[in-house]
This record gives sequence, C-alpha cells and structure tokens, in this order.
Amino acid sequence: MQALIAGNWKMHGTAPQLGDIAGVAAVVRRTHPAADILICPPATLIARAVEAAAGQVAIGGQNCSSESSGAFTGDLSAEMLKDAGAAWVILGHSERRQHHGETNSMVAAKAQAAWRGGLLTIICIGETGAQRKAGQAQTVCADQIRASVPEDMAVIGNAIGYEPLWAIGSGHVPALDEIEEAHSNIRKCLVERLGKRGREVRILYGGSVEPENARAILTVPEVGGALVGGASLNPSDFEAIVKAVPSHA
Ligand code: PGA
Repeated sequence: MQALIAGNWKMHGTAPQLGDIAGVAAVVRRTHPAADILICPPATLIARAVEAAAGQVAIGGQNCSSESSGAFTGDLSAEMLKDAGAAWVILGHSERRQHHGETNSMVAAKAQAAWRGGLLTIICIGETGAQRKAGQAQTVCADQIRASVPEDMAVIGNAIGYEPLWAIGSGHVPALDEIEEAHSNIRKCLVERLGKRGREVRILYGGSVEPENARAILTVPEVGGALVGGASLNPSDFEAIVKAVPSHA
C-alpha cells in the first residue's frame, strides 16, 4: 500500500499559485517519494493544475455533487471534475459538514457518485474536541465510518482521512499514541464493514501536519499518508512533507 500525501488548498489559490504545483512536480520528479502525491486546488484551477503537475502530481477536487447532472445551480458533478482532469475528490471534509450541513448519508451518496464518475475518494471523518474530552472519539469515528463509507468501496487507491476537528488549523496535533489508537480503531471498523478489503484502504492523518511533525506521524502504525491543509499552501513546507515520507526500501 503506497502512502498518499494530499494537499487541500481549501478556498485559496488563483493562477499565480499554479507555479507552486509545478515546483512540487519538479521535486517529485527529482526525489521519487515512496508516496502518491495529490493536490486539491479550488475547482477553478483544476484543468490548469493538471498541466502544471506534468503527470508527477495527481489533481483532485474538494467536493462533488451526489448527482451526475441536472438543475443544481452552482454544483459540480464528479463527471465534471474528471472531465477537467481531476483523478480524486475529497468528500465530507469537516468544513463541509459544519458549514454546508453535509450529513453522513449525503457523504455516502457523494462517494457513490464520485466512484460512478471515475474518481478516487478521500472520505473525511473525525471527532470534535468536546467529543474527545467526553471519551467519545472512537465511537464517533466508528459511527461516521459506518454511515459515510458505502460498503461497495473499491479499495484500490481509495482513502479515509482521519481529521480530528480540534487539530485542523490549530497547530495542535494528537499524541502519536492517540493517532495510533484512532487509526487502528478506523482499521477495525473498515474490516468490519468491508471484510478483508478493509485492510487495503489507506487511512490518512490530517490536522496541523507540518514539516516538523510529518515524519513522526507518517511512521505511526496504520497511518497511510497525510491530508495537509495550511502547510500545502507553502510550497517549501509541502515539499518538505513529501520528502518526509519514510521509504519502504
Ligand atoms: P490543516 O488542515 O493542515 O491546516 O490543519 C487540514 C485539513 O483541513 O484538511
């Protein structure tokens, strides 16, 4: 299972930032990291980002509709993202769950639509700080896996993003043993849900991944990569995270 390092640009980036993608592509070409590298810019940049990535970095969207087409003003389908050159889409990010009312069942429907449209998915889950304090972190994540990961998930390539909400953009990262506990709990849920196939799904850690903590996080058992927000906007930080991927040689 090759690791996946994914950058989530959120609502940041216009044409001048395309050069950053070209820069990351050059690093990937030079260093051959033991990981798939993905950048998810705003949808307006996807087609140009694919050119800038020169086949070295995959490009993805940050959301898609659960419908293929229709009277849904402002929405984008998986087929449209694919047509623009995206290979991936992030689904159920906590910011979409919080600010756009996305529920687990909506996320599951979007995942089905993404797979129908030929995209790979990173389905995001994670507990709030209050839920962690109340000792509910593992049950919250288990419930989110059960309700937002469809049982027919193909395991080749697809990923889960474990992003504790309190770690996103905060500079606070769980202790490594907390990350290990969460990831092994998620693995258990995936195996319960998908059978043996559940062992093959990559589980990414996300939330304040920085050059300084990337290597330690990426060596935690069951961590199959990272979903990087803020640090993906700074090309030298993102490149340092790419270089921190442990080689499996
Ligand atoms: P962060 O964001 O790396 O800035 O914490 C991660 C994310 O929201 O995907």
